[in-house]
Amino acid sequence: MCGIVGSVGEDRIAPRLVESIARLEYRGYDSCGLATINSHGIEVRKGVGAVREVAASRDFAAAHGDIGIAHTRWATHGGVSLENAHPHLSCDGDFAVVHNGIISNHPALRAELQGLGHRFVSETDTEIFAHLLEEAARGALSVEQAFIRALKRLEGTFAIAMISSRDPKKIFCAREKSPLILGIAPGAHFVGSDVNAFLPYTRRAVILDDGDYAVISRDEYRVRGISRGEARSKRVTEIEWHLDDIDKGRHRHYMEKEICEQPETIGRALEVGEEEIGALAHLLCRSRRSLLVGVGTTYYVALFGQYLLASLAGEFAPAVSSDEAEVLVPSDPDGLILAVSQSGETFDTLQALRRARAAGTRTAAIVNVPGSSMTREADLVIHQNSGPEISVISTKAAMAQMVLLVRLAIEVARTKERVRNGKYQGMLDELKDLPRLVEATIDTARGAIRALAGRYSSKPNWFFLARGIFTPIAFEAALKMKEVTYLHAEGMAAGFLKHGTLSLVEEQTPCVFLVPPREEKELFDLTMSSLEEVRARKGKVIAFSYDAIPGGADEEILLPRASAPTAPLLQLVAGQLLAYETALALGRNIDRPRSLAKSVTVS
Ligand code: AGP
Repeated sequence: MCGIVGSVGEDRIAPRLVESIARLEYRGYDSCGLATINSHGIEVRKGVGAVREVAASRDFAAAHGDIGIAHTRWATHGGVSLENAHPHLSCDGDFAVVHNGIISNHPALRAELQGLGHRFVSETDTEIFAHLLEEAARGALSVEQAFIRALKRLEGTFAIAMISSRDPKKIFCAREKSPLILGIAPGAHFVGSDVNAFLPYTRRAVILDDGDYAVISRDEYRVRGISRGEARSKRVTEIEWHLDDIDKGRHRHYMEKEICEQPETIGRALEVGEEEIGALAHLLCRSRRSLLVGVGTTYYVALFGQYLLASLAGEFAPAVSSDEAEVLVPSDPDGLILAVSQSGETFDTLQALRRARAAGTRTAAIVNVPGSSMTREADLVIHQNSGPEISVISTKAAMAQMVLLVRLAIEVARTKERVRNGKYQGMLDELKDLPRLVEATIDTARGAIRALAGRYSSKPNWFFLARGIFTPIAFEAALKMKEVTYLHAEGMAAGFLKHGTLSLVEEQTPCVFLVPPREEKELFDLTMSSLEEVRARKGKVIAFSYDAIPGGADEEILLPRASAPTAPLLQLVAGQLLAYETALALGRNIDRPRSLAKSVTVS
């Protein structure tokens, strides 16, 4: 889940490495480092903390050399320390390595290498690769040969970049179940965990596949297979994203920027072709059993999809959290797995997709990042085209995925002839109006939500409660709160409360109710009965609603009028804003919440 980069071409490569690794900081930010090659050999600079701060305090930019690699870390093996920060060196200092992934056989390799006299300075799995290279280089004809030999000893997942003073003009890199992309430019070449690493320098990219290794130098790159060393030709992809897309602009945080971008993001999700939605609906209708998979926010997106398909199309398509899919998802050659993912690289979701494919199950995916693994491995892909999402806290991507699932459910309903065209058209018309409704929600509710956040940010325990199709949104709102404020928050179907959790509701416990429009009479009444249970125990009733709450509430946030299935999406925005404003009130590091990372590429 770390970010790795490599770059060759500039006379002074260090400033470029700092820029590139800072752009990948959402992949992990507990420590960072770089290594360059110059006339004295390999120079390493690293430190604990975020890229910009460490780069300044350790003067990264002063490192000499026109070739180098860099890393920003999300700790998996070994604590957050200077020793565990990457890059890692071999005993002789001739090899420097950065890595993203988990080398699962590192304990055995470490013991073997220690037996051969290698001294380890870190607790990481990665360092063993630097020593493996040193070992493999004994008797090897070239550094490239040593690189391949060492790679073949690894088990697990890896995206690796390596430089060696024994072959100082090249960067060696390889990929096995962890994303890695080359950047191509005249007189310069790059490698990165994703395109953001080199977008300021080139938009021409070569996406590596599992089992590929590549050698890049100032004027060329070549790709080969790790196992047999055969040349592999790769397509050069033109990345559509622009630098402005990854700039914060007038916003203080990427989370704020991306919340405010949602009207436009929804517009792009509405532009996805009807034939694509139609093809997915058709696939779903002809599959004996369909499952939606995601994890974290995308699990709640999948759950929203389950509610939509059930309520609009009478289709039972359970949502499964991909971290548990191995146990829960039976192989079914006549089934469909629909994966939802912003990054398209999340390890658990990717594994669920791969297992399904291997079992002959049809696979589909709704994905944001172009060129990511899921876009190249699923049978059918819906590109949600939300633009780069930089904030670790997913907002606009989740919104776009939910909009696409509303369109899918309507299409499945229409395909199954369960919706009269009038109602079908009515729903689609309201969906087309969603950008305006979301804009209005941000404009009209943000001030009140900011004030509410100021009054309640000291509350350590929160509940987000809803019924029916609003329930997945309550789960998501609670996750947003936890991720960015570090306050405990639980999302729950409000009907579940009285079966145990109600004992946790004390005076002053903030309970946020996502109240449906009154027209949804049954759901409204059920929600009100749960609300009364909390009011009776003097919990703080905070209502996100479209109408005034009978009997009032401690706090009422009124949202623009909307009806199902769009109404829950305005509650999504209110939940995002509450989390953002509460984190602001608490002075949290909003774009770099502790212990998290944007794309979880390890199991
Ligand atoms: C959401 O804010 C989190 N960053 C996290 O839960 C995320 O949704 C999850 O890791 C899935 O990521 P993906 O959409 O890239 O697959």
